[in-house]
Amino acid sequence: MNALINDIAVIKTKHSKINHVDFDSLKFGSVFSDHMLECDYKDGKWQAPKVVPYGPVTLDPSAKIFHYGQSVFEGMKAYKDTNDTIWLFRPLDNFKRLNISSKRLAIPELPEHVFMNGLKTLLQVDKNWIPKKEGSSLYIRPFVFASGNGFHASPANAYKFIIATAPSGSYFSGEVSVLIEQTYSRSANGGVGFAKAGGNYAGQFYPTQLAVEKGFQQVIWTDDNTHEYIEEAGAMNIFVRINDTLITAPTSDRILDGITRKSIIELAESKGIKVEVRKLTVNEVVEASKNGSLKEMFGAGTAAVISPIASFGYKNVKYELPKQNDSYANYLKKLITDIQTNKAEDPFGWRYKVE
Ligand code: PLP
Ligand code: COI
Repeated sequence: MNALINDIAVIKTKHSKINHVDFDSLKFGSVFSDHMLECDYKDGKWQAPKVVPYGPVTLDPSAKIFHYGQSVFEGMKAYKDTNDTIWLFRPLDNFKRLNISSKRLAIPELPEHVFMNGLKTLLQVDKNWIPKKEGSSLYIRPFVFASGNGFHASPANAYKFIIATAPSGSYFSGEVSVLIEQTYSRSANGGVGFAKAGGNYAGQFYPTQLAVEKGFQQVIWTDDNTHEYIEEAGAMNIFVRINDTLITAPTSDRILDGITRKSIIELAESKGIKVEVRKLTVNEVVEASKNGSLKEMFGAGTAAVISPIASFGYKNVKYELPKQNDSYANYLKKLITDIQTNKAEDPFGWRYKVE
C-alpha cells in the first residue's frame, strides 16, 4: 500500500512481523520493526526520503563504506505513555550531532526536514512497535554511509541515510565491572572521538575483548597521551561520585558530547547535587577508593541510560565500589526516565511529542 504521510512516500510491508515478537522479553537491538526510512544522496543533493519495508540494502563491492569506513550514526529512543502518545528525547540534538559527525567524515550534511519529518513519519507508521513496558523503548538508529563506488581513497559521491528501529529492553543487565585501559586508546587529539563514527566502535572491540577475557564487561577509556585521565566508559560518558560531588570529564575532540551526560548534569544541578565538569585522574579515583570517599561510578548514554559500575580494575588490582542507599545513579535514572516517558513534568523542555 502506498501513501503520502507528512509529504513522505510510504510503501507499507505486506508481511508484518509484529505478531512474531515477544514484547515481554525484548533484548537490546535484535529484532527490527516493519519499516525503515531511506534517503539517498546523489547528483550533489539529498533526494526525497521514503518509508519502505525493513530489508537488505544492495551495494556494489567497491562501495566506499566497505573500504574506508565512511559512516556515522546516532542512537535515540521513542517512548509511548499510558495514553499512547509517542515521545522523543531532545531529537534535535541528535540531528545536530549527526551533522557534526558527518562533517568530520566528509559526508554531506542532512537537511533538518529529512531527519525530523522522516523520523516522525516512520514512528507513526510503526507506532505499534513502540513498547509500553517499563524499561523498554523503541531504540532508533539513524545512520549515514558512503554507498558510492570506487577504490580511490576519497569521499564517495553517493550516500544513504537510513533510520532503522528496534523495540528493545535494557542494554546491560545489572551492574558492570570495568577495566581502566592503560594500553589502547579509543580516540586522540585531532581525531574522530567526538564523532559517532562507526570506526570508533570497531576500534574498541579488540581491547574490550581482552578486558572480557580478564573478567570485565567494559573498558574505561583514558586519554591517549598519558592514560592518566578518565574519559569515557565504553560507549557511554562517565560520572564519578566522590563524597557527594559528581564529576565528569569535559568534552573534547576525544569525547562524545553525550545527550544523556548533559541532561544528567542539568538535572543533578537542578536537584542541588554538586557537579564538577573537570579532568579527573585515575589516581584520584584510586585514592578516593582507598580512603572511602569514592561512592559511585556510572556510565551514561542513550542505550544504557545510566549503568552503575560495581568495580574497576587498574594495574592488576580490583577495586569494589560500596553499595549506596542514596544512590545518585538510581535517583538520576528515575528522574530522567520519568521525563522521557511523560511520567513527570519536564521543566527543561526536553521531551518532544510525535504527532
Ligand atoms: N560516548 C560514546 C562513545 C557513545 O557512543 C555514546 C552513545 O551514544 C555516549 C557517549 C552517550 O551519548 P548519548 O547520551 O548522546 O547517547
Ligand atoms: C547509544 O547509547 O545510543 C549508543 O549509540 C551506544 C551504542 C554503541 C549501543
